[in-house]
Amino acid sequence: MEIIVTPYVDSDRPFVIEGNIDLQDTERDVSEFCLPGIQIGEIYLDHLLKLNAQNFGTILVARVEGRAVGFIGCRIENDESITTTDEANRYGYISDAWTDHPYRNRGVFKKLSKAVEDYFMQFPEIKIIKLNVLIGNESAVATYRNNGYKTQELVLAKRIRS
Ligand SMILES: CC(C)(COP(=O)(O)OP(=O)(O)OC[C@H]1O[C@@H](n2cnc3c(N)ncnc32)[C@H](O)[C@@H]1OP(=O)(O)O)[C@@H](O)C(=O)NCCC(=O)NCCS
Repeated sequence: MEIIVTPYVDSDRPFVIEGNIDLQDTERDVSEFCLPGIQIGEIYLDHLLKLNAQNFGTILVARVEGRAVGFIGCRIENDESITTTDEANRYGYISDAWTDHPYRNRGVFKKLSKAVEDYFMQFPEIKIIKLNVLIGNESAVATYRNNGYKTQELVLAKRIRS
């Protein structure tokens, strides 16, 4: 299967919205804090496009025989931590990754992940790529680990009022 990665174009909009909805519902299955996909699919894409425009970001779309099969969103993020290194404070950030169901476990994310690394090569100061994933999303965690990402931080939550 030949996978070609090219930047998002307007005609990808319905595909990426569908992906946002499915991705969100995957996360909702493992976290009580996630809203339903249908509620956020469209507005999230607009939000993402705006953030990308402000932060050297892009959405890259994987295609097989011209058909969109997956996407990845990335941008540059800046933290202002005074306790971590410059390279950890300004970094490449993967905001979203999604592969359409029939194409999972066929190397689509792997290809998108490499395309993101190539994309960040144009910014010499970017030496690190970070991403967030819900700990309960075990297949995503496994995929990221498989692609060289290592857990750096755990975010814990405790409900103190119902
Ligand atoms: C996570 C996701 C993007 C992975 O996409 P994918 O195209 O299926 O991933 P790939 O086929 O490129 O897999 C890359 C590697 O991870 C491995 N992998 C994939 N799923 C795995 C699993 N459940 N357990 C262990 N390894 C896994 C693959 O075997 C592959 O390794 P290899 O290159 O050594 O063969 C996809 O499963 C998805 O869209 N999930 C739902 C949305 C989501 O959760 N997104 C992430 C939100 S943070």
